[in-house]
Amino acid sequence: MPDRTYPAHPDIEKVLLTGPQIQARIAELGAQISRDYAGRSLIMVSILKGSVIFLGDLMRAVSVDCSVDFIGLSSYSGAKSSGVVRLTLDLRENPEGKDILIVEDIVDTGLTIHYLMENLKTRGLRSLEVCTFLSKPECRKIEVPLKYVGFDIPNEFVVGFGLDYNEKFRNLPFVGVMRPNGGK
Ligand code: IMP
Repeated sequence: MPDRTYPAHPDIEKVLLTGPQIQARIAELGAQISRDYAGRSLIMVSILKGSVIFLGDLMRAVSVDCSVDFIGLSSYSGAKSSGVVRLTLDLRENPEGKDILIVEDIVDTGLTIHYLMENLKTRGLRSLEVCTFLSKPECRKIEVPLKYVGFDIPNEFVVGFGLDYNEKFRNLPFVGVMRPNGGK
């Protein structure tokens, strides 16, 4: 994959994580997950839409058998969390008795992941863990157990590599901070 980090997008103030940095970390996460799930198979549950870019690369870095399913949750509009999480799309497959790995783009307040974990825990899973691409530990309103974290980042609104501002910037192959008034 070519490194399209530079020149950065005109709406981006600074690049936080370059494409090559991200790929190196995903390779490490994939190796760790493959070791932890050796001899088992897992279902990666990707939270739409932000985690799909990360999911695609993570899946290819994992060597154990894995399938994928999708769940839709919504708590954000623009750059602000509404704090209320809604299920907008449920899993297609029954996860009962399965090893489930939630794949998320970013954990901010923790409310979204907390809601999803509580929901999935009622469904008789064999195991449940979380792999998040990014985490903003300073912003937590509720503690959530994150087994795999790509990068801890500061409290800034970031876009790129799946993360959006009003549906824009998901296709940037790096993670960056928007300029004030960017995304218009
Ligand atoms: P939480 O419920 O506050 O942890 O928020 C999680 C969701 O908010 C993520 O899945 C993202 O969709 C969105 N989100 C939180 N911070 C950012 C950010 O910096 N950029 C883009 N989306 C974000």
